[in-house]
Amino acid sequence: MKRRVFSGARPTGKQHLGNYLGAIQNYVSLQDEYQCVYCIVDIHALTSLEDTGGLQKNIHEMMLDWLAAGLDPRKSILFVQSHVPEVMQLHTLLGMVTPLSWLLRVPTFKEKVKLQPHNVNYGLVGYPVLMTADIVLYKAEVVPVGEDQLPHLELAREIARRFNNLFGNAFPEPQAKLTSFPMILGLNGKEKMSKQADNDIEIALSPQETIERVMMAVTDPARQYRNDPGHPEVCNVYSLHRYFSPLQLDDIATQCRSAKIGCVDCKVLLAQEINSSLEPFRERRAILASKPRHIVDVLADGTQRAQIIARETLREVKQKMGLI
Ligand code: TRP
Repeated sequence: MKRRVFSGARPTGKQHLGNYLGAIQNYVSLQDEYQCVYCIVDIHALTSLEDTGGLQKNIHEMMLDWLAAGLDPRKSILFVQSHVPEVMQLHTLLGMVTPLSWLLRVPTFKEKVKLQPHNVNYGLVGYPVLMTADIVLYKAEVVPVGEDQLPHLELAREIARRFNNLFGNAFPEPQAKLTSFPMILGLNGKEKMSKQADNDIEIALSPQETIERVMMAVTDPARQYRNDPGHPEVCNVYSLHRYFSPLQLDDIATQCRSAKIGCVDCKVLLAQEINSSLEPFRERRAILASKPRHIVDVLADGTQRAQIIARETLREVKQKMGLI
């Protein structure tokens, strides 16, 4: 039996290069070695109540990106969190074995309190419990995540362990599996690439739109004039070349340092490389987008397969806790 992987991602809509290089390609590569369960976590998205009216569209666009990028519904279980409502029951039950003090210490909770002081809701405190429920409902052993999720994973292990100690062994303690990619920075070269900060490059853009977006990227701030020598090691455009122009890296660095190539040329080159590397993805995406039923069918099938596992686990949990 293959070991099980679970990962979840919030429904942020069209995916950007950071999602693609950091998470999606990793998800794709795990599909043969593991039985993978990948979930769009719409309930988690409600903890911040941004534009819930856009949820359905976001889920659809994100799923198109996932499928076109190579997530394969014949290999993996792909579904939307709320379509398998057993997770909400497990969340409630796990809440009973989770000391509140553990949750109040979580760094992402403290950040959220600062970020949305007007909306410190109960669901926000329970965010990591719901995340734990996601993972252990499928008894997943391996959880591919970014570094920012490590405190959540630590908590998931502690909750699983505590449940096992109190009620008998039900869950494996899930291990994080970090992606090999360092954080992809946004166009400003400062923060993590994100849709919210509007510093992202969506993978589904047209070639022309990609060029326009890349042109907005900040390069080496010391390079004010065309003839100023550049410093590739501090330039975010250069760091993106690492992923898209691996064979030309040394050349680009030399030409930048000697001002043989200007930032505009360098960006045009980057945009071209991004476009040619994403061309097959974009073709697949266009085909999928022309068949809207396809996503509905994939999700219905994923829900069904996920629910078989979920019901079994929930029954076991209820039995162990004395509810049945
Ligand atoms: N908290 C994760 C994030 O913000 C999303 C998530 C929800 C998740 N449930 C999960 C990730 C379970 C891994 C496993 O990115």
